[in-house]
Amino acid sequence: MRTLKSERYIMTRKLLVAGNWKLNGSIAMTNDLISAITNGLSDSNRFDVALFPPFVYLPQASKLVGSKIVLGAQTVSEHAKGAFTGEVSAAMLKEVGCQMVLVGHSERREYFNESNQDIAKKFQVAQAQGLKPILCCGETLEQRESGVTEQVVAQQINAVIDLVGIGAFADAVIAYEPIWAIGTGVTASSEQAQEVHAFIRTLLSLKSDTIAPLVPILYGGSVKGSNAKELFSMQDIDGGLIGGASLTANDFLAICQQADKLS
Ligand code: 13P
Repeated sequence: MRTLKSERYIMTRKLLVAGNWKLNGSIAMTNDLISAITNGLSDSNRFDVALFPPFVYLPQASKLVGSKIVLGAQTVSEHAKGAFTGEVSAAMLKEVGCQMVLVGHSERREYFNESNQDIAKKFQVAQAQGLKPILCCGETLEQRESGVTEQVVAQQINAVIDLVGIGAFADAVIAYEPIWAIGTGVTASSEQAQEVHAFIRTLLSLKSDTIAPLVPILYGGSVKGSNAKELFSMQDIDGGLIGGASLTANDFLAICQQADKLS
């Protein structure tokens, strides 16, 4: 484990613990949760923390986050402006203090019919405005059981590379989130996750040997304080994208503590 950790260190990939609140929160929760997380984080700066509240709480969150936490949004419009009712542009997110944005979360793909091509456009417009995209990918249980996990993940990532080029990944993050592990309490084992993370890094290295080792690849799907250490210790797992456990300060901080110890 030590060797793996130092390899990651040499590659300058800092661990990132990111909290995706999804459709949860309130003004009071935004205040309480961000204050409690800020107070509970050490000043070490050895790993990064990012939070992704719902759109409407971003201006409030932006005033609260300080220097220890980076703010991001859960999705972004692929359009810059115009008659697109309900959409929020990358420039708007930037203006209210976001530095990152999730693109291609499986819930967006499934419930809002976002295609690989839509997601590639979102990735592109986000970067054009200076937002760092976290490109989410991952397979369903059915796809895993029929042996097409790598094929699915490759299609999801290659669609973005085809539009923006591999160079764009020098300033992006990938999150591997197997759908069967999201919100189910079933976590991929660290070996199962590492296998796909290594596949993703190899996929990137086919396009660029220099960029592939630099791209942080997060794991998401039922990450908790109790399994974070094992997952984050793996060579190609550079932190986590946390859903349920990001809604309670103690649970989220327990994951951050594991990242701190491994950093
Ligand atoms: P859970 O941590 O609740 O499984 O959610 C993972 C996720 O979807 C983060 O984006």
